[in-house]
Amino acid sequence: MTTSVDIKIEKATRSRVLEQDVNNVPFGKCFSDHMFVAEYANGQWEKTYIMPYQDVPMSYATSALHYGQAIFEGMKAYKNEAGEVSIFRPLDNFNRLNKSAVRMAMPEVPEEIFMGGLNELLKLDAAWVPTAETGSLYIRPFLISTDEAIGVKPSETYKFIIITCPAGKYYAEPIKVLIETNYIRAVQGGIGFVKAAGNYGRSLYPAKLAQQKGYQQVIWTDGATHSYLEESGTMNLMFVIGDTLVTPALSDTILDGITRRSVLALARDWGMKVEERKISIKEMQEAHAAGTLKEAFGCGTAATIAQIIGIGHEDNYYPLPPVAERQFSNKVDETLRNIRKGKVADKFNWMYKIN
Ligand SMILES: Cc1ncc(COP(=O)(O)O)c(C=O)c1O
Repeated sequence: MTTSVDIKIEKATRSRVLEQDVNNVPFGKCFSDHMFVAEYANGQWEKTYIMPYQDVPMSYATSALHYGQAIFEGMKAYKNEAGEVSIFRPLDNFNRLNKSAVRMAMPEVPEEIFMGGLNELLKLDAAWVPTAETGSLYIRPFLISTDEAIGVKPSETYKFIIITCPAGKYYAEPIKVLIETNYIRAVQGGIGFVKAAGNYGRSLYPAKLAQQKGYQQVIWTDGATHSYLEESGTMNLMFVIGDTLVTPALSDTILDGITRRSVLALARDWGMKVEERKISIKEMQEAHAAGTLKEAFGCGTAATIAQIIGIGHEDNYYPLPPVAERQFSNKVDETLRNIRKGKVADKFNWMYKIN
């Protein structure tokens, strides 16, 4: 792994870390002392620096604001009992960021900039990583176009930035989800498989309508027929049907989630039957009627495992078995937490230690 890059560092004159309890702050609202920035111009990455977290003046003509060349990643750093900081699978996020960059006609970020920036930033802001059992430092790397120009074309300048914020549990309670059969998150040939800002903007209105009906999230269905289940909100979707873990197969409408990969790896390691394939609404309904739909959950970086306690579809509601009875997802949740907190062996080499 290459991390060697020349980073100019301007340290904050005083840390704000003691002004709040990092183990107890709302998700995504309290940012750590520093941020990493890399600037792209003249066909190359030119400057890399760390500066105190701050607002930066920007033109209202900045192309990212108008034409959506904006992509991002989300990952987490954890602290073990010895106080050492490690990040969960950052190279997977690095590779996915560049997959997004290619699709959005943006320059790829070199590995030494991504990993080097991450390493230096986390060294400086290690005190911001929560120690609580379910706490972590959420890391938000993002790449935006910065040309000050109106006109639809790829920008010539970009900024790659990393900011971080302490995070606790994302969902306090298990969630109810509504199958969405009108609005579409992603279509074949579109950008559903990348983390582009536009995917999230378009998802907010359907999510708001579902919330008005008492659901926390939607389950997206395929754009062509609305009969296959794809993702839940910003999470990959998984079911335990009988003794088999079933999840929608990856396609260009589904994000290749790193939590999804990790859950599948653990399931296979434990000898569980795993199927990555299409799952129809009808199959879900039939499994529910037959009593074989044992578990349903969303998985993603923010929530890790979000237990689904009920699924709505049109005028029907399908309640699911109590969370306490869910052997697989509870075991996965605990195992991932233990790997991240350094409490059990990291046999897959998922943790990247800050040095
Ligand atoms: C649409 C979507 N699906 C799935 C995921 C889960 O991916 P990951 O496990 O890499 O966080 C995310 C979050 O990144 C997402 O935004």
